[in-house]
Amino acid sequence: MRAMKVNGDRLWARLQELREIGKRESGGVTRFSFTEEERQAKNLVISYMKEAGLQVREDAIGNIIGRREGTDPKSKTVLTGSHIDTVPDGGAFDGALGVLSAIEALQRMEELGEQHVHPIEVIAFTDEEGSRFGFGMIGSRALAGTLREEHLEQSDEHRISIAEAMRAAGYAPERIRDAAKSPAEVKAYVELHIEQGKVLESLDQPVGLVTGIAGPLWLQFTLTGQAGHAGATPMNMRRDPMQTAAELLSFIYNEAKQYPHAVATVGKIRALPGGVNVIPGQVEFTLDVRDINEADRDRLERKIREAAQTVCERNAIELQIDLLQRVAPAPSSPIVREAITEAANLIGLTNLPALISGAGHDGMQFHSLCPIGMIFVRSKDGVSHHPSEFSSKEDCTMGAELLYHTLLQLANRS
Ligand code: GLV
Ligand code: MN
Ligand code: MN
Repeated sequence: MRAMKVNGDRLWARLQELREIGKRESGGVTRFSFTEEERQAKNLVISYMKEAGLQVREDAIGNIIGRREGTDPKSKTVLTGSHIDTVPDGGAFDGALGVLSAIEALQRMEELGEQHVHPIEVIAFTDEEGSRFGFGMIGSRALAGTLREEHLEQSDEHRISIAEAMRAAGYAPERIRDAAKSPAEVKAYVELHIEQGKVLESLDQPVGLVTGIAGPLWLQFTLTGQAGHAGATPMNMRRDPMQTAAELLSFIYNEAKQYPHAVATVGKIRALPGGVNVIPGQVEFTLDVRDINEADRDRLERKIREAAQTVCERNAIELQIDLLQRVAPAPSSPIVREAITEAANLIGLTNLPALISGAGHDGMQFHSLCPIGMIFVRSKDGVSHHPSEFSSKEDCTMGAELLYHTLLQLANRS
């Protein structure tokens, strides 16, 4: 292996510095969009971009963009980046590694006087995770021009809408269109991310190439029955939405197991009014269903909706299902895959493993904007969305090195 271009010590130090913002006692990180923590994280990223010699700007949705000029400044821009928001009590690598690796790659190009034809921009996207509003990839949707004002009505658990949160953070929701880029401006998007699974670990490989990203569908279920006394109401005289939810959840898990790739998760559930000795009057829960095969995912969704109707009718429970977000699966584009493969060959990483992403990523929003692709870095034990999420310094450095060469491949192709 030849000497590394990127500086792994600097990348690692920045990862550690960024993880301090929004750090919890568990060691996990919570940074939701349009909060003080997110602002601090963005300011830190801006300072890194400036150290890297990039021209920095913030767009109308709060994406932070650092640009390195190409020798042909008018040619299409190569985009890279990821997100710096997190899930509740999440890890320090999900998103952050992609943003910091991209900055590191561009900083080294600057230090080494490396030139490229096409401009390269690194973007720290606003709210990829969707943890606050149940609606994610907000920054990348805005960049793709598909974020609409009605999306900004979706609200967090304190009933603050995206538009209100934006205003409070100093943004103008009516200007979101200004963040959109057109296909004529963008050459390709490549993102580095931790794998969040165990494939690379099982193959004993530090990095891999992503062939496609599974599509998340998020629903919110509201089951309404009759609240009452937990001691004084016989079991056969109740309309308890929790009993119905239990039936439905067990249907969902059993049904999801019938598909080769589908996954179904109920990550948030709430009983109202919420008393130990009170039969709940209402139960709310979220459902996240994904598959790389959209037809399978949509068939699973149909079955779940039908089952929900049936069990709720049988138990005299009122049912409401709200769509939070529906994202189509996204295959990686041949030109980005080729650029990653050529870059890997160049640095002696032959036989780069190819794998699917089960997690969602910002590039999924760019189907009508530009070709996309991703590099994965090995995750320890496949753990993610958890404080113990970890990738080694060596693996992160290898990922950033591969990104460095991939960006040059893309930015020097006609
Ligand atoms: C983001 O990490 C997602 O896949 O939900
Ligand atoms: Mn995530
Ligand atoms: Mn992520």
